[in-house]
Amino acid sequence: MEVKQAIQKRHSVRHFTDQKIDSKQLKEMIGIAQKAPSWVNSQPQKVYVAQGETLEAIRKQQQELAITGAKTNSDIPPMSRKRWSEQAQKNMAEWSHGIPAVLGDNWQETLGKEASQLYNAQAVVYLTLPKGYTPWSLFDLGAFSQNILLATTEQGIDSIVAYNFVKYPQILREELNIPSDEEIIVGIGLGFEDEQAQVNRITSKRMDTESILKIKK
Ligand SMILES: Cc1cc2nc3c(=O)[nH]c(=O)nc-3n(C[C@H](O)[C@H](O)[C@H](O)COP(=O)(O)O)c2cc1C
Repeated sequence: MEVKQAIQKRHSVRHFTDQKIDSKQLKEMIGIAQKAPSWVNSQPQKVYVAQGETLEAIRKQQQELAITGAKTNSDIPPMSRKRWSEQAQKNMAEWSHGIPAVLGDNWQETLGKEASQLYNAQAVVYLTLPKGYTPWSLFDLGAFSQNILLATTEQGIDSIVAYNFVKYPQILREELNIPSDEEIIVGIGLGFEDEQAQVNRITSKRMDTESILKIKK
């Protein structure tokens, strides 16, 4: 698969089938992702993968917390929509407003249920940075993440990056032995897309390139 094809094919999957992912193959893809550039080759990230019984233990606990409406406390707090730029708010609203047409009026309930079940992901890759990291490391982690997404897409494995995976970090620290001097930044769920699932028909548009680009010669 060409890189361009992998970029275009990747999209967020919110319900995976029960088909398992081979750990050896996953390790290889993480190894490829390590080719990402980083500030002075600092390679600041650590990677924790949950599969099998560990993932099921995380899933069960997250579901229990979600049912009780437990307060979320991700290491990076989400920012209120009102504080984003006007354009970003517009883009977010456009995306959200498109969902009821796909999932119906109970869309929030449907999405909430999928989220609490970790989208039935068959592996979750959790990415951490050392506490006190510079924003440059966040940049590096983004590049590393995209490499994971493209390497997995190329292997026919689907994915979703989600805040949802890291909103109860206490479960992850316990189950994955993540030390207290690391911040859990984000999770990437992996698996094979359930093509029958309506939730996987959610689409996302992109702004016109002209509106974000200025080339000056
Ligand atoms: C940092 C980050 C966090 C995200 N968190 C969530 C999430 O918690 N739940 C969710 O359904 N989607 C989440 N997404 C997926 C975005 O909604 C999705 O990437 C965007 O709508 C574009 O759609 P696409 O990935 O299908 O191209 C997240 C994406 C990123 C990059």
